[in-house]
Amino acid sequence: MSDDAMDGLCVRECQRCPALVESRSRIVNGVGPDDANLLFLGEGPGANEDEQGEPFVGRSGSVLDDALREVGLARADVRITNCVRCRPPENRDPTKEELGNCRGYLERELELVAPDLVVTLGKVPSEHLLDRSVAVTKEAGDVVDVRLGDRSQRTLVCVHPAATLYDGSQKETFFDAVAKAADLSGLADGGDGQSSLGDF
Ligand code: URA
Repeated sequence: MSDDAMDGLCVRECQRCPALVESRSRIVNGVGPDDANLLFLGEGPGANEDEQGEPFVGRSGSVLDDALREVGLARADVRITNCVRCRPPENRDPTKEELGNCRGYLERELELVAPDLVVTLGKVPSEHLLDRSVAVTKEAGDVVDVRLGDRSQRTLVCVHPAATLYDGSQKETFFDAVAKAADLSGLADGGDGQSSLGDF
């Protein structure tokens, strides 16, 4: 798909999905370093993200921030983006067609950032990248190589941070997957939440 509509890593204007154009108040692009080693991929913006123009700034975002902090990382150390960049009405899942409409933007972002590892947060992003049905709770922590155009992208399956809010047993699964992701992408500090002395 053409990504002519992109300005670097950002989509400035898009009218491909009539229902999302109607429900969004803005396009929510990815945030974080344009050469990040580690990229977290969510489903799509919710109400908070739509309002603030940044992915994962609501309660799910706080869970993600907590897990990152636990392994000594800050949100600014990683890239965070979504499969679709506009808020679906009533927070429904994006449709196959909407995911397809936004796919070129995501592939372009992944190609430019070229992270060592992508972490798929929940069922929708996991199935979108792996192109098969995924039992996220069972497969969380699994690492697979995903073919994107002529690239192979190392990807770690993870549950959505919101899952930890309604099912406490998912918290360990989520935090363990984030710790593994930090480790695999060379960003881990040993898991004590402190910077190493070498940083000073
Ligand atoms: N959930 C997502 O999947 N993405 C966000 O940006 C926020 C919540």
